[in-house]
Parts: sequence; C-alpha cells; structure tokens
Amino acid sequence: MKQFNTYLPFFLFLCIIPVLSYAAGSSDTSSVVNVYTTRHYEADAELYKQFSDEHKIQVNLVQGKADELIQRIRVEGDKSEMDVFIVTDVGRLYRAKSLNLLSPIQDQKILSRVVSPYKDPEGMWIALTKRTRIVVYNTNNPRPPIQSYLDLAYNDVGNIFTRSSGHVYNISLVSQIIDQYGSDAASKWVQNITRKFARKPQGNDRDQIRAVYESKGDVAIVNSYYLGLLIHSPDDYDAMVGRNVGIIFPQDTHVNVSGAGIGASSPNRENAKALLSFLLRKDIQERYSATNYEFPAVQDAKVDDLLLSWGDFFEYQTKDLNVYGEFSAEATRLADLHGWN
Ligand SMILES: [Fe+2]
Repeated sequence: MKQFNTYLPFFLFLCIIPVLSYAAGSSDTSSVVNVYTTRHYEADAELYKQFSDEHKIQVNLVQGKADELIQRIRVEGDKSEMDVFIVTDVGRLYRAKSLNLLSPIQDQKILSRVVSPYKDPEGMWIALTKRTRIVVYNTNNPRPPIQSYLDLAYNDVGNIFTRSSGHVYNISLVSQIIDQYGSDAASKWVQNITRKFARKPQGNDRDQIRAVYESKGDVAIVNSYYLGLLIHSPDDYDAMVGRNVGIIFPQDTHVNVSGAGIGASSPNRENAKALLSFLLRKDIQERYSATNYEFPAVQDAKVDDLLLSWGDFFEYQTKDLNVYGEFSAEATRLADLHGWN
C-alpha cells in the first residue's frame, strides 16, 4: 500500500502527459512507433510527419521533461511500450542506460553513422544532433578575454549570466570541468563563476542572451542553437538581439547531444530502428541544422551557413561522453555548495 501511495501522484501525472500522433496522410498505418521525447521544437513535428508518410508507420509522441519520462518508464516497467527515447542531454541518456531502460541498438548501419564519442560505447544510445555550450557577449563592448571556460572564472570578463544549475545543460558543463580538471578545481571554478553572476539565475538561455544585449551584464553561457533561433526569429526585437551579440567558442568547447536509444522492452523494435535510420539520414540531419541551428551528428551532412560563419572550433573530447552522467551528482553537489541555484 505504501508503495502505491508513493506512486499515486505519478500515476495521476501519467494521465496528463499529452500523446501526439503523426500518421501518413493517405494510406493507413498498420504499424506504430512510440517515441518518448523531451524535444519540443516545431521542426521535429514535420520530421515525424515525413517519416510517417515515407514508412507508413504512425509516430506516437509522448512529450515531457527528461526526469518525468524516465520515471514514467520505470513505473511502466517491462510493460513499457516505449520504442524510442529521445532526450537533449547525455546525462539523461546515461541515466536511462544505468537504470536498464534501454536496449542495445545492435545495428551497424545506424551505429556507423556517428563517430565516437557521440555514441555510447556499448551502443545503448546515439547522438541525433550536437549542441555547443558557448559564451556570448555584447558587441558594443570589447571581446572579453576568454579562451577557455577557466577564463570565465579567473579573467576579468565582467558579470556572467546563466540559467539555473537545476538545468541539465549547466550540470553537464560542470561535469566536463570535473572531467578535465578534477573535483577540487571544478569546485573553485563553480565558486568563482557564481561570485560573478549578474543576477540570481533565472529564465532560459534566450533570456540570458537578451540580458547581455540589454547590457544588464557582460557575458552569458548558453547553447549556441538559441542564438541561431534568435537571429532567425520572426520577432524583430529578438532578431536584433541575436544580431548584436558576439559568440565565443572556448578552446575546449562543451558539446552535448540530443540523442536517442531504443526501449528495453520496445514492442516495435524494427520501427524504432527505421526511425533512427531516418533521423540520421543526410537530408534530415541537414534539416536539424537549418531549422534548429544544431550541429549534425553525422559527418556527411551540410552544416547550416550560420553555424559555418561562426568558424571552426575545438570540441572537447573525452573517451566516453557518459562522464557527463557519471559526474552529474558531483556537479550538482558543487553547484549547490556554492549557491548556484
Ligand atoms: Fe534547449
């Protein structure tokens, strides 16, 4: 009874998670693929529609936050009908893998589309896109002296904006700092960063870029695709914001992924593989880049011109990107310790 009570709020919550379906327009779709995803971009809906049209497979979409979806899959247990799990952070892919919620992809054609470390060494997840966490600054000011993330903590870069440490994007960045320099050095880094915060962390990445433009502070740590979304925004103000900030790729640029795995008890495994193959196809990868300004996960896709205009940069490489998940508890501890909340 106690266990039921523990899960009761969650069962109620399951009832309100929306399920969207994308089916082929003319023909019937006798088969389905159930996708649990945290991706919430308009462009993705068009991709699912196209997949459904081409493969005659209906896409059922369950959208939610990563931890909510993970909890849902755990409650569903081996009755879970999740075929594909898509999240925008390696830390959460690692968590799903660690909790045995995923099964090996076991398809060389799929796995060979992406180079290491942008796929799990055991083939449990694979990147669909790459997203860089970079620094923006107001171009009315001189370019701040930032070569690496360390410079944010130890150089005079002015005040810093970033969102809450509760967000996985920042936790994975701190996990990288731990991976690079060890926990003690990462602790000092977090301490110095938080001392320079222009304000108590609030809002999303776009809000941090707007604040830099409005000269409320000097630099912001954000994902680069949000800058692309602002530059191409139909909102005039946001487009102006995007065009009037500079971008700095640190020499150890943090690359996280939007990635996918196949459910441990996936009832439609072949359809799941068909969807992964489709999403890693050259033309689809180019759409991710051109519409959401993410970097393709595959080598043969053309990178969007805006992203190319930002120039080459060095991607921080670690043997296994799962370290972002392995260090996430320590990263959270450091953020809490130094009041990055
Ligand atoms: Fe995002």
